[in-house]
Amino acid sequence: MVWVNNIGREAMTSEKPAKFPLGSVIVREKFKRQDDTQPELVAVMVKRGAGFSPKSGDWEYLLINGELTRTRDRQKKGSCSACHSQQEARDFVFPVTITK
Ligand code: HEC
Repeated sequence: MVWVNNIGREAMTSEKPAKFPLGSVIVREKFKRQDDTQPELVAVMVKRGAGFSPKSGDWEYLLINGELTRTRDRQKKGSCSACHSQQEARDFVFPVTITK
């Protein structure tokens, strides 16, 4: 399940590749089993200001535990952006199915 805040909503739902504005936050909940109510992990992308990390679209990547009590990882460039670079043309965001 992927969530986006209002700032990033337009870019996320746009049919054409769009740049996400500063302050966009995208949250991906990873569930172990389909009927779990609490995620196992929460992956977050935060759009920082220009110059934060120019080569990876100025995104900050965070990995948080399912209880939301611990930040497990925090990256500018690293494994997260390495894989998300495949989607550089879409501002490093993979397409997701929009339900609302
Ligand atoms: C091996 C490739 C890979 C790595 C590494 C990876 N991701 Fe992703 N990520 C994806 C794919 C593919 C999606 C598309 C959604 C899906 O498949 O559920 C995605 C989706 C996301 C989304 C939802 C926005 C989007 O792009 O659709 C966030 C947020 C996210 N990842 C954060 C992270 C964070 C934080 C890390 C590092 C801790 C990370 N990802 C590492 C492949 C990767």
